[in-house]
Amino acid sequence: MDMVKFFHMNGGIGDASYSGLQRMGIMKTKGVIEQAVSDLRRSNVNFPKTLVMADLGCSSGPNTLLVGSMVINAVTKTSFEMGLKSPEVQINLNDLPTNDFNTIFIALQELQGNTTNGKIRDVPHQPSCYFTGVPGSFFGRLFPMKSLNFVHSSYGLQWLSQLPELEEINKGNIYLSSTSPESVSRAYLEQFQKDFLGFLRCRSEVLMAGGRMVLTLAGRTTDDPRVEESNRLWGPFAMALQDMVFEFTPSPTEIMNLVKMEGSFTIDHLEIFDVNWEAWKRMKNGNDASELKETDDGVAKAIRAGIEPLVANHFGEAILDDVFMRYGKCITDRRSNKENQALVSITVSLTRKM
Ligand SMILES: C[S@@+](CC[C@H](N)C(=O)[O-])C[C@H]1O[C@@H](n2cnc3c(N)ncnc32)[C@H](O)[C@@H]1O
Repeated sequence: MDMVKFFHMNGGIGDASYSGLQRMGIMKTKGVIEQAVSDLRRSNVNFPKTLVMADLGCSSGPNTLLVGSMVINAVTKTSFEMGLKSPEVQINLNDLPTNDFNTIFIALQELQGNTTNGKIRDVPHQPSCYFTGVPGSFFGRLFPMKSLNFVHSSYGLQWLSQLPELEEINKGNIYLSSTSPESVSRAYLEQFQKDFLGFLRCRSEVLMAGGRMVLTLAGRTTDDPRVEESNRLWGPFAMALQDMVFEFTPSPTEIMNLVKMEGSFTIDHLEIFDVNWEAWKRMKNGNDASELKETDDGVAKAIRAGIEPLVANHFGEAILDDVFMRYGKCITDRRSNKENQALVSITVSLTRKM
């Protein structure tokens, strides 16, 4: 299956474009992003007139402009503290060509309706900001050599560029689980290694020396990819639908080894954290426990937003409502069995070596 052609989030900001879980994850990394931007700004009093950043796998929904606004605020605040003028900010929004860029540009137009010369009115010291859409796979180069100061990517990098070649079938699993053969888990790891190394190599070419990068991806706490923890998302989905595989959640050790192997970056910070589904559901429902069941359906919608085009391409559109309704039910059943429901995330902050 060609991931570039079929993998994209659902268009628009409707029901199936629900991104609450990832939003909670991004909010947890706010401090890391701000620190990286602040360090970047402080590293050079003669900073270039424009801070050029890219958000890779930006999607088209409520989270799309979130990181851009964090960067603008951080560079504005740090410049102010340094008693210097803030550089202008250019934000390159990247996703696959099938992403709904129209929705982003319409939202931006509304935002820019409130701007003068790229500045949002009434926000003190705010620099001019300019936005560009960059369609294409982040496994390719996407940008000219040494053209970026800052790169961000959240919840896109665990998706593989293609399905791994499997020597054996995955025994009825759609993802790695305790019953997956060793050769299947090795094939997934090797595909992830190839993709992640290629990603680092491309970013090492486009980031300027000293440039910073913050990556957040779904991960796992253990080094064995077949433990139940990594199967929290896809286990219930496998019960609703058999025979589909496309994701690899790495461990912190795997990430550190690959960064070391590629050689162009130093790791400034690496952390692993849970995004708790119950907390998210409570946030959505104002702590009304009677509504929790309803939002299990919300979890199913969040996942649907990410993978509906893949499922539709593989099995046809007719099954979509039924499959995702069943998925919501499987999640509810697991919750009734008191299974811990959390999305494990890894954030790593890196500096491009000089
Ligand atoms: C789960 S969404 C995350 C969106 C947003 N960054 C967030 O954290 O809410 C993953 C996004 O990564 C994009 N994506 C996946 N593989 C990609 C690739 N190879 N190149 C560019 N974007 C990709 C998907 O299209 C999708 O919009």
